[in-house]
Amino acid sequence: METIVSPSLLSANFLHLDKEIEMINESEADWLHMDVMDGVFVPNISFGFPILDAVGKVCKKPMDVHLMIVHPENYIQQTAKSGAAIMNVHYEACVHLHRTIQAIHDAGMKAGVTLNPSTPVNVLEDIIGDVDIVQLMSVNPGFGGQKFIESSIKKVQRLRQLIERGGSQALIEVDGGVQVDTAPRLVEAGVDILVSGSYVFKAADPKATIHSLKQLHR
Ligand code: DX5
Ligand code: ZN
Repeated sequence: METIVSPSLLSANFLHLDKEIEMINESEADWLHMDVMDGVFVPNISFGFPILDAVGKVCKKPMDVHLMIVHPENYIQQTAKSGAAIMNVHYEACVHLHRTIQAIHDAGMKAGVTLNPSTPVNVLEDIIGDVDIVQLMSVNPGFGGQKFIESSIKKVQRLRQLIERGGSQALIEVDGGVQVDTAPRLVEAGVDILVSGSYVFKAADPKATIHSLKQLHR
């Protein structure tokens, strides 16, 4: 299966967002990953709906929105309105996850559930048939450019087993520390979607870096 590449805008040059989106549009990137942080769920604040709305108007790639916020269920309509195709909510932020997944689908988006590094995959057992994507954090959420947590490779394998056991079609997305050394090992372990921030946007040639990630196949 072909690997989906979703560069993370968090590491882009915000002074030249138009140029960065132009690069994404011209590249082989499949999606554009957008990290929204509230300073409560994670110890950092990034950007919110004004940026999502502006990027949504010019980005030709589906927006893969990752909400690192408390009460993401209160922002489903606003996320859909920005033009997002995928909405990822954290398991740890959702008391009524099943209801939230339904509401994301009702708003016309694909639904993703994200797990922090310390959250085991088996908490998803009863919902795995209802989600389109499971996103595993391979760093603690909140910052770009952090070191990859090695145990994430085994976690991907456990998630792959859970998906197969549940007869689910869910895709596996990994976010954090995805670069030249970790990406091939993640794909081999069963990852479908690679999110990559600093490795892509800080590269001398971001388009070539995206191309190299697209070469990885399962
Ligand atoms: C971290 C964000 C990531 C971040 C990844 O909380 O969710 O999407 O941009 O950055 P890198 O690829 O640099 O680890
Ligand atoms: Zn992210």
